[in-house]
Amino acid sequence: MAVIFSKIGIIGGGISGLAAAKQLAEHNPIVFEATDSIGGVWKHCSFRTTKLQTPRCDYEFSDYPWPLRDNTSFPSYNEILEYLNSYANHFDLFKFINFNSKVVEIRLAKDHLESPSKLSTLLPGKPVWEVAVQTSGSTAIQWYGFEFIVVCMGKYGDVPIIPTYGRNKGPEVFKGKVMHSQEYSKLDAEESSQLLKGKKVVIIGYKKSGIDLAVECAEANQGDDGKACTMVVRTSHWTVPHYSIWGLPFYLFYSTRFSQFLHARPNQGTLRTLLCQLLSPARKAASKIIESYLLWKLPLVKYGLKPDHPFEEDYASCQMAILPESFFPEADKGKINFKRSSNWWFWEGGVEFDDNTKLEADVVLLATGYDGKKKLRTVLPEPFRSFLEYPSGMLPLYRGTIHPLIPNMGFMGYVESVSNLQTSEIRCKWLARLVGGKFKLPSMEKMLEQVNTEMEIMKNTTRFYKRTCISTFSINHNDEICEEMGWNSWRKKSWLAEAFSPYNSQDYQD
Ligand SMILES: Cc1cc2nc3c(=O)[nH]c(=O)nc-3n(C[C@H](O)[C@H](O)[C@H](O)COP(=O)(O)OP(=O)(O)OC[C@H]3O[C@@H](n4cnc5c(N)ncnc54)[C@H](O)[C@@H]3O)c2cc1C
Ligand SMILES: NC(=O)c1ccc[n+]([C@@H]2O[C@H](COP(=O)([O-])OP(=O)(O)OC[C@H]3O[C@@H](n4cnc5c(N)ncnc54)[C@H](OP(=O)(O)O)[C@@H]3O)[C@@H](O)[C@H]2O)c1
Repeated sequence: MAVIFSKIGIIGGGISGLAAAKQLAEHNPIVFEATDSIGGVWKHCSFRTTKLQTPRCDYEFSDYPWPLRDNTSFPSYNEILEYLNSYANHFDLFKFINFNSKVVEIRLAKDHLESPSKLSTLLPGKPVWEVAVQTSGSTAIQWYGFEFIVVCMGKYGDVPIIPTYGRNKGPEVFKGKVMHSQEYSKLDAEESSQLLKGKKVVIIGYKKSGIDLAVECAEANQGDDGKACTMVVRTSHWTVPHYSIWGLPFYLFYSTRFSQFLHARPNQGTLRTLLCQLLSPARKAASKIIESYLLWKLPLVKYGLKPDHPFEEDYASCQMAILPESFFPEADKGKINFKRSSNWWFWEGGVEFDDNTKLEADVVLLATGYDGKKKLRTVLPEPFRSFLEYPSGMLPLYRGTIHPLIPNMGFMGYVESVSNLQTSEIRCKWLARLVGGKFKLPSMEKMLEQVNTEMEIMKNTTRFYKRTCISTFSINHNDEICEEMGWNSWRKKSWLAEAFSPYNSQDYQD
């Protein structure tokens, strides 16, 4: 078996893979991308109406500003793809990428089978991992050997979460069509309109994919003969119509040093823990101000959609969705209905609920999310695969990047914040310096302790702590990353800006 050796392998050509390739370019990495294009979810999970949930300047590489970056509108997925292609061209990243190349297995190289934990360097001069790659349209496998691997396979896309059902309660008894949002994203405008037009549609899920699907459904059903769609809402979460709350910019509430000062952060010491307890009324007040605005602005009470939990908990778990402008106007026109239920199943004519009610349906769309961990489990070998199993469902990664028990491997794109591009890019900079030997990782015990401390903070802030989300302490997280890289962590030009202006990628230029 001929093995191709190289120093660094990167798996995935989404924003995380691109950022990793850019930062590790001096090592001539090989990037494997399973599909025929870069962009990841923006290419393969987007609907006709999918847009970025923030203005472009919040989703930008630090050394590659968007054209018209001050345009405050949210760019469409096509504009994002153009931006990413232009970035990849500008930094000559395409030369690193092997398209249509799917990594199907990763295993430890023979030399390291016995003693992976004894590896003391990240670039030891011989392969640590072997990677099996299958090219589209072929069954042949090509093996590669790498000293270090960066896994950027994405948390979303590829592996949909499909609900499970009791006997004779699954899609097999339903006469209509069932489709996950992932499959729906493959349809073109004509096909999606045909699927929805004049049909009774039920959408399972009330988060961003479900909300966008409801709007597409309403748009396809304009006019008197158009049918209404119904969203099945298991948990009602806070949604936000725009980034202004009672006339104040949204970033003032959570994205400045001043606002994040109110929130618990890892390694904060006893004094700060006490201070955080004392400051909890201020935190609650910030959350209440936002809730009061949303309840005033949106008909949440009218539709029975007022969440039972504080806004802060959605924000702290990276679940906040931006509402398309036409969402509630379409509900007011009767084109979008809501059904609160946590237990539902199929009957031959549609969907049935545990309150003994039934909905008729021609099409059931599952906007039930994705299983990013399953994707990782399919390629990682044991025992490393089981290290990903953590009680809460979060991925235990030091600096959101290194698993303390998995040698010579980085994970990018598994920690979330307000802008996942910014979150991935700064960690790629950190990783490139780590791999380049500019600093060393702390001991395994210290890394595990840090990971556990971060998880505790997330658990204590929100009941929805399944995602690794650092949105309430992102500046502190980046401070620690900067310090480890030998950078100044306070990166603004004045104290005033340091306290009250938001941090974005531009603040973390090299
Ligand atoms: C519809 C949608 C909209 C979103 N909107 C926002 C937003 O507004 N703001 C925000 O911050 N975040 C948003 N997100 C989160 C989004 O996932 C991140 O912002 C970011 O794009 C993730 O990039 P990534 O590179 O980590 O992963 P991905 O984009 O998922 O890229 C992973 C890549 O790896 C490839 N791959 C997977 N498995 C293999 C394999 N075995 N071998 C080779 N290649 C493989 C995939 O083909 C894919 O190209 C959104 C997510 C979705 C699904
Ligand atoms: N920028 C954009 O425009 C855009 C568009 C789409 C997606 N996204 C992003 O993509 C990611 C995935 O979003 P997503 O909406 O696809 O998935 P998601 O955030 O995981 O939401 C899944 C939804 O399905 C519900 N659900 C899951 N299983 C269910 C079941 N068995 N019965 C009833 N309800 C069930 C969940 O309810 P519970 O809350 O009760 O679990 C939740 O409402 C997110 O990060 C999102 O921000 C962004």
